[in-house]
Amino acid sequence: MIFRDDALKGKVAFVTGGGTGIGRGIALELSRVGAKLIIASRSLEHLEPTAREIEALGAECFYMQMDVRVRPTVDHVVEEAIQRFGGIDILVNNAAGNFLVPFEDMSENAWRSVVGIDLDGTFHCTQAVGRHMIARGGGGSVINIVFSGAWQAAPYDAHAAAAKAGVLALTRSLAVEWSRHGIRVNAISPGPIRGTEGVRRLSAGATEADRAGGVPLGRMGEIEEIGWACVFLASDAAAFITGECLSVDGARNQLGRSILRTPPQRPRPE
Ligand code: HXC
Ligand code: NAP
Repeated sequence: MIFRDDALKGKVAFVTGGGTGIGRGIALELSRVGAKLIIASRSLEHLEPTAREIEALGAECFYMQMDVRVRPTVDHVVEEAIQRFGGIDILVNNAAGNFLVPFEDMSENAWRSVVGIDLDGTFHCTQAVGRHMIARGGGGSVINIVFSGAWQAAPYDAHAAAAKAGVLALTRSLAVEWSRHGIRVNAISPGPIRGTEGVRRLSAGATEADRAGGVPLGRMGEIEEIGWACVFLASDAAAFITGECLSVDGARNQLGRSILRTPPQRPRPE
């Protein structure tokens, strides 16, 4: 254990898209340090096995079907969480959609689908949970999962880049607006994370060595590493951090979209 196992004892965390990939990893790491979990997404088959894993760690968890684009389904999860656990302290907006498509071929539905999940979904969940946090008066922590497309360009994912740029702007705006309520709002930008759907979709055909080669630290990230960043940002160790975006990416984002260069060969001075 890197963190104390009671670092988030008594806290309640709601992770959207918490059944698979990075969201599952975040839910597991939060539960290892004492949080109670709510995980929700469209597919119960994604959620049920993760909920069982969390319970096997000795933590409380419940899961519910929800489409972040459909506000009543979000409100229903929030109401149920308040009913069962007494409230929500931590919200992780992780649910997302992405696929590569040339912009000129992108249908309106394709645009709406991704912007609807990533940006509208973050609005729905953050407003529903934020209203509850404000009414309760105990503060809270909101963590938005973004990706470097929010500020760096690459072809064929303009819908997701635009949506995540919106999520990043929302992160900063709300950090300022909700400071008076003691609600901190931060983002995490993962680099390429091994074994995830996001990597599979955005770099299909690349080998793991290709993907690691684009990262200065020379490897892909692990799912747990995003979970640990979440534990830190949700904990009191980050009590003075709000409005920030933490890149967990082995310095991938410092490179821009340039390729790694080998050092120029220069004779060493005698
Ligand atoms: C072109 C596509 C398409 C594709 C879907 N569409 N896939 N267009 N290329 N590959 C179009 C459809 O034709 C349709 O438009 C519209 O998008 C909506 O499609 P649906 O299948 O009806 O949508 P829905 O069932 O709501 O599913 C949402 C989805 C899907 C986003 C399209 O892929 C999904 O469920 N994704 C969730 C998982 C995911 O994407 N994970 C990766 C997150 S990674 P028409 O006009 O035909 O009706 C990430 C960044 C990772 O965010 C960064 C890594 C480095
Ligand atoms: P993933 O496994 O496909 O996760 C996406 C999750 O979102 C799924 O659990 C999915 O569950 C849920 N979801 C999708 N649409 C939804 C909707 N309309 N309503 C509710 N839930 C919905 O992909 P991932 O790679 O782990 O990505 C997770 C997050 O990390 C995303 O925000 C992504 O942008 C970010 N990210 C990933 C990487 C990477 O390397 N993978 C890098 C940078 C950023 P259902 O299908 O059950 O709905």
